[in-house]
Amino acid sequence: MRSTTSVAAVRQPLLHGLDVGGLRLPNRVVMASATRARAVNSGLVPTELHAAYYAQRASAGLIVTEGTWVSERAIGFAHVPGIFTEEQVAGWRQVTELVHTAGGRILLQLWHTGGAAHPDLLGGEVPVAPSAVNPGEMSFTPTGFQPTVTPRALTAAEVAGTVAEYGRAAENGRRAGFDGVEIHAIGPYLIPQFLNPRLNTRQDAHGGDAARRRRFLLEVVDAVAEPFGGRAVGVRLSPYWNIGELFDDSEATLRDYDALVAELDDRPVAYLHLRGRDTAEGGAPDLAAFARFRRLFHRPLIANNGFGAESGNGVVEAGLADAVSFARHFIANPDLVSRLALRRELSPGDPDTYYSGGARGYVDYPLTDWTGGSR
Ligand SMILES: Cc1cc2nc3c(=O)[nH]c(=O)nc-3n(C[C@H](O)[C@H](O)[C@H](O)COP(=O)(O)O)c2cc1C
Repeated sequence: MRSTTSVAAVRQPLLHGLDVGGLRLPNRVVMASATRARAVNSGLVPTELHAAYYAQRASAGLIVTEGTWVSERAIGFAHVPGIFTEEQVAGWRQVTELVHTAGGRILLQLWHTGGAAHPDLLGGEVPVAPSAVNPGEMSFTPTGFQPTVTPRALTAAEVAGTVAEYGRAAENGRRAGFDGVEIHAIGPYLIPQFLNPRLNTRQDAHGGDAARRRRFLLEVVDAVAEPFGGRAVGVRLSPYWNIGELFDDSEATLRDYDALVAELDDRPVAYLHLRGRDTAEGGAPDLAAFARFRRLFHRPLIANNGFGAESGNGVVEAGLADAVSFARHFIANPDLVSRLALRRELSPGDPDTYYSGGARGYVDYPLTDWTGGSR
């Protein structure tokens, strides 16, 4: 007679292996990028604490790091690490070495906040953006959340320079031992600002119509693909982002994303990481959100936003995604893969410690105690 637990594990679609960009994932449970604001040092260097945090989660099929600054100009959130200095490269190297030693695979997420930054994070300088339009966001500064200001429009030469910064950041990531990179193109940050006609009013090669607005992202794809020989480079998109007055998920916006995803399909993009529609707490994710883009992209698709054990297995089983990423569950459950496999209860996280700095709420989430409770 077979044991019920082994039957449960074997049948779960999330527990089957998957090839992504030349990497062999032992399961389809991806750790989604999550900013944790633990680089509380003047050089924005990842520390031993970062290494411990990611190594604790090395059983994930794939880890995507927190968003990481491609350059000093990219900074828009306090205590987030960068990948633009040698000190940062060395700090990340100890992270990748420990994750690899623990048997994991880890990609670096490349982030630039553009106009969603704040002068207090930029030595008093005004943030840069596609156009001088205030995105109306809140920026997390050393003194707490503050409203954004009107940014300065990048010159054409600065746009090219920013693309080059992404390329250098990817090369630094390769030297730091990462298995690849993911381009952070979600939320209200620099790349979605370029894509958005209300925030990008440029009339040059990078603005004017949807094809020109997506040029910046496509140039970034080519720049970061080079150091990795075009292999493990992923793009993360949030077509359904509709927070604030300037972002919407209207049919016009979604049609622009259709065209973008079709173009990404023709580029050296190893996977598409799609953040679906927001769902009410505990509600089931809207699978139609993934079906729309699934038919336009022919390499692995990673689904995200509000998934749990049942819905995660369901979206893979239905063929609408190849893998599922979890952010909040991975923050609170370092042994998420085992818990899903053996259908154990998932621990709730503590949002108060998401950005609080220090070890508490970062590396002290307990493993399941297989004798009964939690230790
Ligand atoms: C604390 C926190 C930090 C986050 N930071 C990032 C980030 O740096 N980059 C990113 O692409 N998404 C970030 N996200 C979004 C998550 O990756 C994910 O899209 C969101 O939490 C929904 O997925 P979930 O339901 O599995 O948590 C963050 C989310 C949380 C809760």
